[in-house]
Amino acid sequence: MNIFLNRDIARLILLQRIELSTPFLKKIRKLSGRYFFTNVASKYFISPKKIGEKYLEIMQKEYDDLAKFVNFDDKKILSIGGGICGFELLTILNHQKTHISIIERNFLSNKVVYGWDKENSEAYNDLNLVKLFFIKNGINENFFSIYDFDNEKLPEKHFDIIISLYSMDYHYDFNLYQSYFKKIFKKETKLIFDTIRPDYFKKMFNNVDIISSVQNTVHKSNRIICSEPKF
Ligand SMILES: C[S@@+](CC[C@H](N)C(=O)[O-])C[C@H]1O[C@@H](n2cnc3c(N)ncnc32)[C@H](O)[C@@H]1O
Repeated sequence: MNIFLNRDIARLILLQRIELSTPFLKKIRKLSGRYFFTNVASKYFISPKKIGEKYLEIMQKEYDDLAKFVNFDDKKILSIGGGICGFELLTILNHQKTHISIIERNFLSNKVVYGWDKENSEAYNDLNLVKLFFIKNGINENFFSIYDFDNEKLPEKHFDIIISLYSMDYHYDFNLYQSYFKKIFKKETKLIFDTIRPDYFKKMFNNVDIISSVQNTVHKSNRIICSEPKF
């Protein structure tokens, strides 16, 4: 499979998935700092084609791994912080009756820092590019809706699956979404996200399963599936 992507989309993908950096880009980031990396290197020193190929590979693996645990057929899915939404694209392509609502932000921080962002002041996305990515890859607007976290009312309906890969509780606190979740959870809703503190959620949900863990990065994390919130 080939995916459409242009240089601006490839740049955002690189910032969202920093593991796609080449050794050359890593060196530039170290020597010239985050500002130069975010504003210059990520724009001009990249190969969009190579980023596209690697991104597709990573997203395919994310999709294959998750499809072992959840059935995406004919589901209402909410994605929180999906980035350019490669995972969401593959999910829609594989499950024609599925609809995905996407909550993301519409700005790019000046210096992307990849730590815990207490104030949730960071973002690296452009919602017009997310839309372009879907449309150019053959998905029409009946299958997805995009919500700007900072400027739009979030969708208030019950979802079957809520998914946040390396976003909620990985970069910013779960509690930002907790009261919103009260409005959109039903008994069967499954919430999947990456966190560095899985035990904390055992007190908050009746069911919590760790489905994978990443231990070889600075940010050691677990991917968990939760259902039946107690809050
Ligand atoms: C590390 S990226 C992960 C992107 C994608 N899920 C992936 O796995 O490639 C984190 C994403 O969270 C988004 N983000 C930051 N704060 C957010 C918020 N409050 N709500 C939704 N998305 C947010 C950023 O814009 C960014 O695209």
